[in-house]
Amino acid sequence: MSQNTQNKPQRVLTGITTSGIPHLGNLAGAILPAINASKDPNVSSFLFLADYHSLIKNLDPELTHTSSFEIAACWLACGLDPKKVTFYRQSDVPHIFELTWILNCLTSKGLMNRAHAYKAAVVDNENTSDPDKGIGMGLFNYPILMAADILMFEADIIPVGQDQKQHIEMTRDIALRFNHYYGDILTIPEAMIDDRKGTIPGIDGQKMSKSYKNTIPIFESQKNLRKTIMKIKTNSLEPGQPKDSDNCSVFKIFQAFADEDQIKDLKQKYEDGIAWGDAKELLFNLIDNRISGFRKEYEKIIQDREYLEKTLNDGAEKAKEISTPMIKKIRNAVGIKAFN
Ligand code: TRP
Repeated sequence: MSQNTQNKPQRVLTGITTSGIPHLGNLAGAILPAINASKDPNVSSFLFLADYHSLIKNLDPELTHTSSFEIAACWLACGLDPKKVTFYRQSDVPHIFELTWILNCLTSKGLMNRAHAYKAAVVDNENTSDPDKGIGMGLFNYPILMAADILMFEADIIPVGQDQKQHIEMTRDIALRFNHYYGDILTIPEAMIDDRKGTIPGIDGQKMSKSYKNTIPIFESQKNLRKTIMKIKTNSLEPGQPKDSDNCSVFKIFQAFADEDQIKDLKQKYEDGIAWGDAKELLFNLIDNRISGFRKEYEKIIQDREYLEKTLNDGAEKAKEISTPMIKKIRNAVGIKAFN
């Protein structure tokens, strides 16, 4: 699977955009799989806060800052050991942005025209006179910054949600193009998508996403967690009527956090006609159990800004030990180098 030839451990890299508070979709789709993978001694993990990605979606400095802080605390609270991984802020590694420009110059505009996020924004403008209305260059170039995040660290495996699959394919295209022009320098990454978990739906049934404002935040009080879970949209089948687990948001979220036996058990209850309120109560108990330990840790960590800052600074130093020689190699390859 790996394109590595130097016998180094497989590099697994993933990031979270810091423009919202951590939610169950992040937990199931990125945080827990990444933390699990980081425990494998044959894996070298790179986990980062994609804080410059945040600016694409919001121009609120307070939101970007608070969200970085909360997401950092969240990963640590969920069991990430910063000594075993490279845990950093994207913004602390300027080499990523240098690489972004280099990749910008060799990426065809046509490839970016096909990006789902950009295309969706154009469709939104269909009935207006300006197809570019509200579309910044950040949104257009977003897959290239993501490619730089990945290629900077010669990552092999990228655990992401289904919605990010296209970005990894674009990263591969961009890297192959680079290698075609400049020699075999960049590692070609692969996406790792956990299909069982797939995309976690939000409370309205669409993909759980901060952009849709349909998330279930992880670290709110028990009371609020319960309240949000009770709001999950279901159909209007009465208690006693058999229910279909396949197309049900409550079931899908349950499935992402339960073991096989629990899943089988709930499926049976659906067939037996469980009331929606009871199904949601089971979901609440499952989630609350799963996160109550994390919640305690989180409350401790957010009190300690010094610890968080130092942890991320140490992570940035570790990251730069890799990006410094790598960017030098890349600069050399493209002809940006000393005269002597
Ligand atoms: N775009 C990703 C998201 O919104 C976050 C991200 C940024 C990322 N850079 C990355 C994920 C690099 C994996 C690898 O979910």
